[in-house]
Amino acid sequence: MKDHVHTNIQKEVMRVLADKVAIVTGGASGIGLASAKRLAKEGAKVALLDLNADKVSEAANQIRAEGGEAMGVQVDVSQTKAVQSAIEQVAGAWGDIDVVFANAGVNGRLAPIEDFDPEEWDQTLSINLKGTFLTVKHAIPYMKENGGSMIITSSVNGTRVFSNFGMTAYSASKAGQLAFGKMAALELSNYHIRVNVICPGAFETSIGERTYPNEEQLENIRIPKGKAKMPTDPGKPEEVADVVLFLASDASKHVSGTELFVDGAQTLL
Ligand SMILES: NC(=O)c1ccc[n+]([C@@H]2O[C@H](COP(=O)([O-])OP(=O)(O)OC[C@H]3O[C@@H](n4cnc5c(N)ncnc54)[C@H](O)[C@@H]3O)[C@@H](O)[C@H]2O)c1
Repeated sequence: MKDHVHTNIQKEVMRVLADKVAIVTGGASGIGLASAKRLAKEGAKVALLDLNADKVSEAANQIRAEGGEAMGVQVDVSQTKAVQSAIEQVAGAWGDIDVVFANAGVNGRLAPIEDFDPEEWDQTLSINLKGTFLTVKHAIPYMKENGGSMIITSSVNGTRVFSNFGMTAYSASKAGQLAFGKMAALELSNYHIRVNVICPGAFETSIGERTYPNEEQLENIRIPKGKAKMPTDPGKPEEVADVVLFLASDASKHVSGTELFVDGAQTLL
């Protein structure tokens, strides 16, 4: 009898997102993919939105093969029409949206300010900051009736760390996301939509593939930095996924407009 009760409780606890519809941008890789898998495992139907068409359909296939429900949609999050129609496509297939994880992002060009190409600056800001705005904006019509949870991936860069030289565009985009997320939390509380911002530290993902440091120019920035070793190792994307699940679920139903550092205390040093 005891075992039976235990099993039922476990079942209920394990599927906290049953029947929910979730959108994950940048869902084909790294933190987005790990989180999409986590949300799907908890019962959500997950739409992965990503620039990389092959990787996004492969990721959706992977989730389906593991017993989850998923679709992959190729989209550039910096393009308003594309984002609008991708979200429309998801809602058309599955109905209203409950969870949005605005996570797509790139490190982009890393260079001293003096050498920073304004077009490359715009590119980083367009993907990271404008992309977040567009994702949130175009999801609102499908969330305003029933409410839901939005989670934005910012970073420790631009919110608690300002010493990674060359990352001015990236850090500015990440600081912008935090301010935007807080304003969105207040504005969208009218619709019972919660908005929270996560700030990951160092994680092992594919972000290095879209990181373009100009090593020679960066040599010119000579500000001595401490040599202290990070107190903990870089994290695994699955450790962010656990936090995303918490914020996506009713376990955080009174949490909105806050930032959450996910860095194992690395940036406190
Ligand atoms: N990895 C880290 O250490 C770390 C730390 C702090 C914050 N972050 C943030 O986490 C988020 C996810 O990064 P990740 O580390 O998982 O990197 P990743 O490169 O593994 O995944 C990012 C995904 O975003 C997609 N993407 C890039 N540009 C896009 C666009 N214009 N439209 C749609 N999709 C696009 C890529 O195709 C990729 O699949 C980013 O916002 C990043 O800034 C990462």
